[in-house]
Amino acid sequence: MIQQIVYYSISETEMNKNTISEILEPSRINNAKKDITGCLLYHDKVFLQLLEGEKEAVSTLYKTIEKDERHSNVTLIIEESINKRMYPNWSMAFHEFEKNKSYIDKFAQSIDFFSKSVPKKTEAIDLFWRMAKQIVN
Ligand SMILES: Cc1cc2nc3c(=O)[nH]c(=O)nc-3n(C[C@H](O)[C@H](O)[C@H](O)COP(=O)(O)O)c2cc1C
Repeated sequence: MIQQIVYYSISETEMNKNTISEILEPSRINNAKKDITGCLLYHDKVFLQLLEGEKEAVSTLYKTIEKDERHSNVTLIIEESINKRMYPNWSMAFHEFEKNKSYIDKFAQSIDFFSKSVPKKTEAIDLFWRMAKQIVN
Protein backbone atom coordinates (compact mmCIF):
# COMPACT_ATOMS: atom_id res chain seq x y z
CA MET A 1 0.00 0.00 0.00
CA ILE A 2 1.05 3.56 -0.73
CA GLN A 3 0.22 6.43 1.58
CA GLN A 4 -0.80 9.66 -0.06
CA ILE A 5 -1.05 12.91 1.88
CA VAL A 6 -1.83 16.52 1.04
CA TYR A 7 -1.05 19.50 3.25
CA TYR A 8 -0.83 23.23 2.89
CA SER A 9 1.30 25.75 4.76
CA ILE A 10 2.16 29.41 4.79
CA SER A 11 5.64 30.53 3.86
CA GLU A 12 7.46 32.74 6.35
CA THR A 13 8.84 34.92 3.56
CA GLU A 14 8.02 35.55 -0.09
CA MET A 15 9.82 32.77 -1.98
CA ASN A 16 12.07 33.36 -4.98
CA LYS A 17 13.93 31.03 -7.33
CA ASN A 18 16.84 30.67 -4.90
CA THR A 19 14.83 30.01 -1.78
CA ILE A 20 12.66 27.54 -3.69
CA SER A 21 15.76 25.74 -4.99
CA GLU A 22 17.06 25.48 -1.46
CA ILE A 23 13.97 23.45 -0.65
CA LEU A 24 13.64 21.52 -3.90
CA GLU A 25 17.17 20.34 -4.58
CA PRO A 26 17.75 18.47 -1.31
CA SER A 27 14.11 17.31 -1.38
CA ARG A 28 14.55 15.61 -4.74
CA ILE A 29 17.67 13.81 -3.51
CA ASN A 30 16.07 12.77 -0.21
CA ASN A 31 12.82 11.73 -1.84
CA ALA A 32 14.55 9.60 -4.45
CA LYS A 33 16.41 7.77 -1.66
CA LYS A 34 13.23 7.23 0.33
CA ASP A 35 11.11 6.41 -2.68
CA ILE A 36 8.83 9.37 -2.09
CA THR A 37 7.14 11.11 -5.00
CA GLY A 38 4.79 14.04 -5.31
CA CYS A 39 4.22 17.62 -6.26
CA LEU A 40 4.82 20.97 -4.59
CA LEU A 41 2.92 24.10 -5.56
CA TYR A 42 3.67 27.63 -4.44
CA HIS A 43 1.70 30.82 -4.87
CA ASP A 44 1.71 34.03 -2.89
CA LYS A 45 3.16 32.50 0.31
CA VAL A 46 0.98 29.41 0.14
CA PHE A 47 2.52 25.98 -0.26
CA LEU A 48 0.44 22.99 -1.28
CA GLN A 49 2.18 19.63 -1.35
CA LEU A 50 1.22 16.12 -2.28
CA LEU A 51 3.45 13.35 -0.93
CA GLU A 52 3.20 9.66 -1.67
CA GLY A 53 5.26 6.68 -0.61
CA GLU A 54 5.57 3.96 1.97
CA LYS A 55 3.50 4.89 5.04
CA GLU A 56 6.37 5.10 7.51
CA ALA A 57 8.55 7.14 5.11
CA VAL A 58 5.76 9.63 4.39
CA SER A 59 4.88 10.11 8.03
CA THR A 60 8.53 10.60 9.02
CA LEU A 61 9.01 13.15 6.24
CA TYR A 62 5.82 14.98 7.16
CA LYS A 63 7.03 15.33 10.75
CA THR A 64 10.31 16.81 9.48
CA ILE A 65 8.52 19.19 7.11
CA GLU A 66 6.17 20.31 9.89
CA LYS A 67 9.14 21.47 11.96
CA ASP A 68 10.74 23.39 9.09
CA GLU A 69 10.97 27.06 10.05
CA ARG A 70 10.62 28.31 6.50
CA HIS A 71 6.87 27.87 6.81
CA SER A 72 4.13 27.68 9.45
CA ASN A 73 0.47 26.69 9.85
CA VAL A 74 1.31 23.32 8.34
CA THR A 75 -2.11 21.72 7.96
CA LEU A 76 -2.82 18.17 6.86
CA ILE A 77 -5.85 18.12 4.57
CA ILE A 78 -6.17 14.48 3.59
CA GLU A 79 -4.50 11.13 4.09
CA GLU A 80 -5.33 8.15 1.94
CA SER A 81 -4.06 4.60 1.39
CA ILE A 82 -3.86 3.62 -2.25
CA ASN A 83 -2.70 0.61 -4.23
CA LYS A 84 -0.57 2.36 -6.76
CA ARG A 85 1.47 5.52 -6.80
CA MET A 86 -0.05 8.33 -8.88
CA TYR A 87 3.13 10.16 -9.86
CA PRO A 88 5.89 7.53 -10.02
CA ASN A 89 8.12 9.80 -12.11
CA TRP A 90 7.98 12.93 -9.99
CA SER A 91 10.56 12.87 -7.19
CA MET A 92 9.09 16.30 -6.51
CA ALA A 93 7.41 18.21 -9.30
CA PHE A 94 7.16 21.93 -8.76
CA HIS A 95 5.01 24.77 -10.02
CA GLU A 96 4.92 28.38 -9.07
CA PHE A 97 1.82 30.33 -9.90
CA GLU A 98 2.02 33.93 -10.91
CA LYS A 99 -0.60 36.59 -10.53
CA ASN A 100 -1.05 36.93 -14.23
CA LYS A 101 -4.37 36.10 -15.79
CA SER A 102 -3.09 34.40 -18.95
CA TYR A 103 -0.54 32.42 -16.97
CA ILE A 104 -3.21 31.27 -14.57
CA ASP A 105 -5.48 30.18 -17.42
CA LYS A 106 -2.63 28.26 -18.98
CA PHE A 107 -1.75 26.68 -15.69
CA ALA A 108 -5.36 25.75 -15.01
CA GLN A 109 -5.28 23.83 -18.30
CA SER A 110 -2.13 21.99 -17.36
CA ILE A 111 -3.70 21.23 -13.98
CA ASP A 112 -6.51 19.54 -15.85
CA PHE A 113 -4.02 17.71 -17.99
CA PHE A 114 -2.04 16.47 -15.02
CA SER A 115 -5.06 15.51 -13.01
CA LYS A 116 -6.37 13.48 -15.94
CA SER A 117 -3.00 11.89 -16.63
CA VAL A 118 -3.00 9.89 -13.40
CA PRO A 119 -4.05 6.23 -13.66
CA LYS A 120 -7.02 6.46 -11.34
CA LYS A 121 -8.01 9.61 -9.52
CA THR A 122 -7.91 9.30 -5.76
CA GLU A 123 -9.71 11.63 -3.39
CA ALA A 124 -6.39 13.13 -2.35
CA ILE A 125 -5.43 13.91 -5.96
CA ASP A 126 -8.82 15.37 -6.69
CA LEU A 127 -8.65 17.59 -3.60
CA PHE A 128 -5.08 18.60 -4.37
CA TRP A 129 -5.88 19.94 -7.82
CA ARG A 130 -9.15 21.51 -6.72
CA MET A 131 -7.30 23.36 -3.98
CA ALA A 132 -4.62 24.41 -6.47
CA LYS A 133 -7.33 26.08 -8.53
CA GLN A 134 -8.71 27.84 -5.46
CA ILE A 135 -5.30 29.16 -4.49
CA VAL A 136 -4.88 30.94 -7.82
CA ASN A 137 -8.37 32.41 -7.79
C1 LIG B 1 7.25 23.55 1.75
C2 LIG B 1 8.33 22.56 2.04
C3 LIG B 1 8.34 21.34 1.39
C4 LIG B 1 9.34 20.41 1.64
N1 LIG B 1 9.33 19.20 0.99
C5 LIG B 1 10.30 18.30 1.23
C6 LIG B 1 10.31 17.05 0.57
O1 LIG B 1 9.46 16.72 -0.26
N2 LIG B 1 11.34 16.20 0.85
C7 LIG B 1 12.33 16.51 1.73
O2 LIG B 1 13.21 15.70 1.95
N3 LIG B 1 12.34 17.69 2.36
C8 LIG B 1 11.35 18.59 2.15
N4 LIG B 1 11.39 19.80 2.78
C9 LIG B 1 12.54 20.13 3.64
C10 LIG B 1 12.46 19.51 5.02
O3 LIG B 1 11.63 20.30 5.85
C11 LIG B 1 13.85 19.41 5.65
O4 LIG B 1 14.49 20.65 5.61
C12 LIG B 1 14.73 18.42 4.90
O5 LIG B 1 14.05 17.21 4.65
C13 LIG B 1 15.96 18.11 5.76
O6 LIG B 1 16.82 17.39 4.98
P1 LIG B 1 18.24 16.93 5.58
O7 LIG B 1 17.91 16.10 6.78
O8 LIG B 1 18.86 16.21 4.46
O9 LIG B 1 18.93 18.24 5.94
C14 LIG B 1 10.37 20.74 2.56
C15 LIG B 1 10.36 21.97 3.20
C16 LIG B 1 9.36 22.89 2.95
C17 LIG B 1 9.36 24.21 3.66
